[in-house]
Amino acid sequence: MGEILQIRDLKVSYGGIDAVRGISFDVREGEVVTLIGANGAGKSSTLRAISGLVKPRGGNILFNGEDITGKDSTQIVSKGLMMVPEGRKIFPNLTVLENLRIGAYLRNDDLTSDLEMVFNYFPRLKERSWQAGGTLSGGEQQMLAVGRALMGRPKLLMMDEPSLGLAPIVVQGIFEIINRIHQDGTTVLLIEQNANMALHVADRAYVIENGRITMEGSGRELLEDESVKAAYLGTTGS
Ligand SMILES: Nc1ncnc2c1ncn2[C@@H]1O[C@H](COP(=O)(O)OP(=O)(O)OP(=O)(O)O)[C@@H](O)[C@H]1O
Ligand SMILES: [Mg+2]
Repeated sequence: MGEILQIRDLKVSYGGIDAVRGISFDVREGEVVTLIGANGAGKSSTLRAISGLVKPRGGNILFNGEDITGKDSTQIVSKGLMMVPEGRKIFPNLTVLENLRIGAYLRNDDLTSDLEMVFNYFPRLKERSWQAGGTLSGGEQQMLAVGRALMGRPKLLMMDEPSLGLAPIVVQGIFEIINRIHQDGTTVLLIEQNANMALHVADRAYVIENGRITMEGSGRELLEDESVKAAYLGTTGS
């Protein structure tokens, strides 16, 4: 299938700091692609540029062949490109249901079937639909953040470290959901520090170091690569 996202020589700077120094990669329709890298490597900056939350200093972002570089975030969301941000960013004083409805803020049609779809992925959210978002557990808040993005019917779902700060059993649940979302036909671009889980779920992966891509391959290839093992998987040898 064709490329849904093409990133060409993307550069992001904050003042004098070069966070992303010329990154190029592709996501094809139907894939799960992951970007892995250490703290400060430029992963979130890459996603924020794609989402229109920061203006790139250089390079191009094509979504379904259309140049969306520098467009504002609402325009980008309206094209079907949704992000689950780092740190979830749910609205703590709004209920679960209200948070979910916000995910569909650009639509004015009936949301019943979309809510059903989200509650099917996350039955816990249905039980807690009247609870304030801020009173949910960390794992439940992550479910809500993913559910909210799904309410926008993404063509490409981008997730920034969905496993951060969650217990291993909850992390496993989140990755199972990523798998299901993928199997149900959504293309996923995933950022993770949990390289082990991310590489298991990914069709293809890129390693980012200091704002540059230093390695790419299938999830399996990177899982078996000695330098990836040493730097990101906490294991060497086999
Ligand atoms: N708003 C900002 N102002 C100034 N510098 C920033 C800003 N946001 C990010 N940076 C810097 O840009 C670099 C890349 O940050 P980024 O958040 O993209 O990294 P990351 O790979 O997502 O890291 P982490 O895994 O810790 O989330 C870092 O050196 C960071 O300090
Ligand atoms: Mg980050």
